[in-house]
Amino acid sequence: MFVGDFGDEDVEMVTRIANLAIEKAVILGNHDAWLSFAKKEVTEKLHDSLDVLGEDHIAYTVREVPAAGISIVGARPFSWGGQSLRSPGLYDEIYGVHTMRQSAAAIVDAARNAQHRDIVILAHNGPTGLGSETTDIYGKDFGKPGGDWGDYDLALALQRIEGYGLRVRAVIAGHMHHKLLHPRGAERKRFIKRGDTTFINCAVVPRVERGKNGEELSYFIRMRWLDGECSSIEEVWVDTHGGEHSSTLVEVETIGDVVPTLDEADEQ
Ligand SMILES: [Fe+2]
Repeated sequence: MFVGDFGDEDVEMVTRIANLAIEKAVILGNHDAWLSFAKKEVTEKLHDSLDVLGEDHIAYTVREVPAAGISIVGARPFSWGGQSLRSPGLYDEIYGVHTMRQSAAAIVDAARNAQHRDIVILAHNGPTGLGSETTDIYGKDFGKPGGDWGDYDLALALQRIEGYGLRVRAVIAGHMHHKLLHPRGAERKRFIKRGDTTFINCAVVPRVERGKNGEELSYFIRMRWLDGECSSIEEVWVDTHGGEHSSTLVEVETIGDVVPTLDEADEQ
């Protein structure tokens, strides 16, 4: 699973991901649609990125993983976080989605087509409702720091999907960097659990670092699944030959309910 932000409409990098000879599911990030949002129209590069990924870009669709007993549902791609879609016309052009509520409905529709009751959601940014401190998993740490910078459509979709008796076992997203701008250098929570759902923020930035001997190491999260349940989550640093340099078992913090909010006037 890839949570996006491969580059600023970097078609070459997206093509490299698309050509990987592994099963994959991808959600593109705001950077992958950077120029399109600036121009408020779908650029040729974004068209090319979507073409090259084909069905592996699972926005508003479902990917079955029978071996794990789960269905992966794709949420809204290109998210910048916050309460605005930023360029509703762009979403309309590609997905026929013009508002947060329509986007939520499209995520729910995908989940209702899932073959498993146990659902994993793949998104670029996580949902609202998980806290508004800068250190919270999708808390705003830039500009005027503080506030919930999650996706409201995803929060709405989660409630409705659970209302249909499906279990959202995990929401996997990125976008919000692990090291904070305010307070500078602090780190945000990245693994939390609320009810049956584990929320994972994968955005360790940079995700490529040098090891002690100068070797290039890349960051991954590894989850083990059986019969729709996740039994372990590890953070893994891997060298360019696929060798595991280190792996650390993740401890997940359980939180209570925080009600998602949206100023209706700001809704697009
Ligand atoms: Fe992003």
